[in-house]
Amino acid sequence: MSCLSPACLLLFVTTAVLAAEQGATSTRGSLSYDDFESPEACKACHTDIYWQWDQSMMSKAFTHHWDEIEYFDLAVKHAEKDPRFKDAVDGCNGCHAPLAWLAGDIPPPRPSENSRANESVSCDFCHSITGFSGDLPFNFNYVVDPGRVKRGSKPGRESPHHDTEANSLFSQAEFCGICHNERAPSGVWVKSTHLEWKEGPYAEQGVPCQQCHMPRAKGRSASMADEDMVAQHLFHGAHDPGKVRGTIELRMHPDEREVETGGTVVVQVQLFNGKTGHKFPTGSVEDRILWLHVEAVDSEGQRFHLPVDPKGFEGEEYTIAADVLAYQDLGVPLDLPDFEGVQRDGVPFGDRIFRMPYFDDQGRMTIMQWNTASLGVDYRFEPRETKIETFTWELPDEIAEGRVEVHASLNYSLLVGPVAELLDVPEEESEPMLVNSQFTWFEVYE
Ligand code: HEC
Ligand code: HEC
Ligand code: HEC
Ligand code: HEC
Ligand code: HEC
Repeated sequence: MSCLSPACLLLFVTTAVLAAEQGATSTRGSLSYDDFESPEACKACHTDIYWQWDQSMMSKAFTHHWDEIEYFDLAVKHAEKDPRFKDAVDGCNGCHAPLAWLAGDIPPPRPSENSRANESVSCDFCHSITGFSGDLPFNFNYVVDPGRVKRGSKPGRESPHHDTEANSLFSQAEFCGICHNERAPSGVWVKSTHLEWKEGPYAEQGVPCQQCHMPRAKGRSASMADEDMVAQHLFHGAHDPGKVRGTIELRMHPDEREVETGGTVVVQVQLFNGKTGHKFPTGSVEDRILWLHVEAVDSEGQRFHLPVDPKGFEGEEYTIAADVLAYQDLGVPLDLPDFEGVQRDGVPFGDRIFRMPYFDDQGRMTIMQWNTASLGVDYRFEPRETKIETFTWELPDEIAEGRVEVHASLNYSLLVGPVAELLDVPEEESEPMLVNSQFTWFEVYE
């Protein structure tokens, strides 16, 4: 059929744009669970890779406790009350339980029922991806073709169990962007790890996600294969304290080493992001909290908390911990009319927070990313960025003479504490992880 008339062209373009806007919602129910082999089927030959995957979040994307709580108790409940969110909430499964999505099994049974949705982001699912629809990878717009052929990055591999095919997408960041970029129904980008990477130095220097999250090491990719440099299926991120540790390096110094009692000292902290290929925090930014805490200890062991100096940029109030309530929109799925919210930060008031707040359509801060209508100030670390924070401290009268040590610690929680408490999310999800620490000193004299 030819399509040369303006009306036809317009229709064609509109449909293509729409398809790209929505991600590939057309894949829903297009296949069945039986079209995919289970990870157990790969384990006998790809043993190491299996155990690597098994300890990553990929194998738990549907079953992990916080995912179960957020999906079943918040998202599904919210969509029941407000049908505007039905498609987006069904779409959670497109990334977290792709087999259930493709089988049209929505909502999938709870994890305790042991359905194949529990396979989460599985071996055969990823290795059946052939491409993505549209120009930009986002909102699970994968194209899959499960069956005998398993795709990978290396040409000419031979296996007794399956055929192989090299597909360059497997070496590219775009492969990951299919699920690591997400647009809410409002059109707002609520996850943009791949887009952040694309704008940063690592894309320019040809360092894709795989180099940091699937690093290669010498070994055998299958029990009968020759030695090679094998892509380790670590997918280690924020749930691995060792991956998070040292992401930001801290150095600090006072403006003077000797300060008179009653005087003022200015402590400067430099924070350098030497480790992430995207912003930090990235991904589930609505849940995460990263904060800098500074304390001084005088020669008699008295402790003093130092609040950060405000810089005066727009939206800064969201980046300094304060005594305010937030997340009132949780009242809708939780059936709590007139819910007043919970404490916004759950960290010591006056500490600097590196974050980007998400807001609902009433301007209230939200952790329900599907309910996001706008984004606030972006005060996160770009890849290789250095930020400087200052702490101006008028020495209190009770300070003892002698050496004062000033300690800084940068902490990270996966889920902001008061929300975790409200929703009964296991403590490991909100426990602070130490990203880094440093100290400096000065002398107080009469
Ligand atoms: C009977 C053993 C066996 C089983 C079972 C098996 N594989 Fe393989 N697979 C191999 C061998 C051997 C190779 C080639 C390895 C090499 O030479 O590097 C291979 C290679 C691969 C590759 C690399 C392709 C490339 O081009 O880079 C992928 C991807 C793969 N297998 C996926 C799977 C998945 C997914 C499963 C489970 C559904 C699976 N395999 C089950 C033996 C097996
Ligand atoms: C999130 C998607 C994803 C999942 C899940 C996944 N893989 Fe992979 N796999 C990849 C990518 C991407 C590569 C290529 C990485 C590269 O070359 O940098 C790869 C590479 C491989 C290779 C070739 C390794 C090499 O370097 O020779 C094998 C074999 C393989 N995968 C098997 C598996 C098995 C078995 C599982 C489940 C236990 C699994 N994969 C789960 C994305 C995935
Ligand atoms: C089919 C969708 C999908 C694809 C493709 C995919 N991911 Fe993921 N990934 C997820 C989901 C969903 C999670 C969240 C798991 C959870 O916590 O529920 C996740 C989690 C992760 C995490 C762990 C984050 C944490 O909080 O600890 C890392 C790291 C990661 N992915 C890296 C990658 C990389 C690198 C690629 C490309 C090679 C990739 N992913 C491809 C869906 C995907
Ligand atoms: C230069 C190395 C590097 C590159 C390139 C890189 N990452 Fe990361 N990534 C990290 C480090 C370090 C962390 C741990 C700190 C953190 O949580 O952000 C991380 C964390 C993550 C997390 C967890 C974020 C969180 O805090 O919840 C995800 C998801 C992730 N990366 C996905 C990706 C994807 C997708 C790409 C490619 C588009 C990518 N990464 C590229 C180094 C890298
Ligand atoms: C476009 C793919 C995509 C869609 C759609 C999606 N997610 Fe996710 N989700 C991810 C990825 C990728 C991560 C990991 C990001 C990170 O670690 O920073 C994640 C992380 C999460 C986490 C945090 C996991 C943790 O342990 O910290 C929860 C909870 C979650 N998603 C629930 C949902 C719900 C509920 C929906 C539907 C309303 C949804 N997701 C829709 C890709 C998606």
